[in-house]
Amino acid sequence: MNSKAIRVHENGGPEVLKWEDVSVPEPGPGEARVRHTAIGLNFVEIYFRMGLYPPPHLPYTPGTEAAGVVEAVGPDVTEVRVGDRVAYCGGPFGAYSEVRVMPAKFLVPLPEGIDEATAAASMLKGLTSQYLLFSTYQVKRGETILVHAAAGGVGLILCQWAKHLGATVIGTVGSEDKARLAAQHGCDQTILYHKEDFVARVRELTGGKGVPVVYDSVGQATFMGSLDCLQPRGLMVSYGQASGVVPPFNVGILSAKGSLYLTRPTLVTYVAERDELLGRARALFDVLTRGIVRCEVRQRFKLKDAAEAHRALAGRQTTGSSLLIP
Ligand SMILES: NC(=O)c1ccc[n+]([C@@H]2O[C@H](COP(=O)([O-])OP(=O)(O)OC[C@H]3O[C@@H](n4cnc5c(N)ncnc54)[C@H](OP(=O)(O)O)[C@@H]3O)[C@@H](O)[C@H]2O)c1
Repeated sequence: MNSKAIRVHENGGPEVLKWEDVSVPEPGPGEARVRHTAIGLNFVEIYFRMGLYPPPHLPYTPGTEAAGVVEAVGPDVTEVRVGDRVAYCGGPFGAYSEVRVMPAKFLVPLPEGIDEATAAASMLKGLTSQYLLFSTYQVKRGETILVHAAAGGVGLILCQWAKHLGATVIGTVGSEDKARLAAQHGCDQTILYHKEDFVARVRELTGGKGVPVVYDSVGQATFMGSLDCLQPRGLMVSYGQASGVVPPFNVGILSAKGSLYLTRPTLVTYVAERDELLGRARALFDVLTRGIVRCEVRQRFKLKDAAEAHRALAGRQTTGSSLLIP
């Protein structure tokens, strides 16, 4: 079967994202063919495109998050059936495509109340928020936490969910508009980190105590400051590097700053078992259907215009979730 997909032949800027003809094979044992209706845009695809993370091979089709309908299944598939509406946020790359074949074990059937656009906008960012709030650290009622890039894709979901858990949420943002948006999505206090000293503000807002956990996806620009926002024995969760890679540092700093903990988690290890994937997805679908977490699609791009989407995301022009539409 012939189809269209974005392909990357060499690492580089957004211009390396090419719209090409590809052939899609029949699904083999354990595989399903999915026709995408919506594809999630994620910052991690920028790291791979640039070569900051090595792509698995060249050329490749980027993307690990999408929703659509199962068109065909190979032998021995038990997870999904033809006609199922499904979404995924892991497995082999290839989401930037109209149709693809992938291992069925990564596919999550969608419940009635979850449309495909919402699923593609929230699977990767929502399951990330879920594991960060419940597994990497268990956020408790009454705690004050710090979330960087609070108006971003993960940020808006993380802040709403943390607020629902009873936390007071301090969020950093890059503009006044983003501050307003974050405030509408669970942020109790916003800090414009390019203008204000966020460490001093967090100390002030917590009466000098600091916070028990920092969720930092900005990386280089905020890492050291984030450590200074923590209480003694607090947990630094460094889960991304939108501003650049965190340079190597002396672990003695963690002792000097108060016996701090540091983790660098990734979604892959938190959804490695199918039971865990389905359990976290159920928790996400539950807060979405009950309206506890809202995940509006704030930007839509045509799939063939993926380069434009990457420019917008890397250039801090987007807020919340963005979709690529085949
Ligand atoms: N470890 C995991 O499991 C995992 C899973 C999903 C995502 N992530 C990470 O979480 C982060 C958010 O992902 P996302 O897809 O939702 O993206 P996003 O937050 O929507 O976009 C990134 C945001 O980071 C901020 N930022 C600060 N400095 C920046 C810079 N120099 N260049 C670009 N952006 C900068 C910008 O917000 P402001 O303008 O408000 O500063 C920007 O909007 C990424 O770092 C991603 O890698 C990690």
